[in-house]
Amino acid sequence: MHVLGIMGSPRIKGNSDLLLDEALAGAREAGAETEKITVAKLKIEPCEEYYACLKDGRCVIHDDMGAVYDKLLAADAVIVASPIFFYTVSAQLMPLISRCQALWVRKYVLKAMDIPVRKGAFIAVGATKGQKLFDGPKLTIRYFFQAINVELREELLIRGVDKRGEIKDHPDHLAAARALGKRLATA
Ligand SMILES: Cc1cc2nc3c(=O)[nH]c(=O)nc-3n(C[C@H](O)[C@H](O)[C@H](O)COP(=O)(O)O)c2cc1C
Repeated sequence: MHVLGIMGSPRIKGNSDLLLDEALAGAREAGAETEKITVAKLKIEPCEEYYACLKDGRCVIHDDMGAVYDKLLAADAVIVASPIFFYTVSAQLMPLISRCQALWVRKYVLKAMDIPVRKGAFIAVGATKGQKLFDGPKLTIRYFFQAINVELREELLIRGVDKRGEIKDHPDHLAAARALGKRLATA
């Protein structure tokens, strides 16, 4: 079992990063191999709507997304961790998601998605306590996952955590992330 973690925050060792590390540690405890990509360290342009992917499900923009497509398609499980920015996922994460339009085309237009449905989890953290804080990002992640043939199985949605690393003051949330990773990696 290979679990891919996608870290969406620009803040290294911030709350999303620490929660994702715990989830991946939990997956390793369950016997999985893990890999983490930090989107802020990659050069990924957003989708430009060239729609060259309509030919063969491949994007004509050549940047770090090329390697990310391979990782997304090869993983047995995917965990996305993101801070909430203006009631959605981070701006750093959105280009990666929009570039998966090529995989959406591959699946729904060309009917050429030849990999099984895998398992997915979404971890999100926001500063405020708004009731609808996660409504938008949950839909974004659900439809992102559908495009890449991943089913959203687990969510860890945390309100009221703001400063860098403040999540360390909440061992219950870190334990929940570890348990999530463990469950995801268990068949
Ligand atoms: C640009 C920006 C927009 C934000 N928008 C929201 C928001 O809409 N709702 C919210 O609750 N918190 C918002 N926050 C706060 C972050 O979600 C919060 O600080 C979170 O803990 C950051 O996680 P990180 O350390 O993983 O980056 C925003 C922060 C930034 C920098």
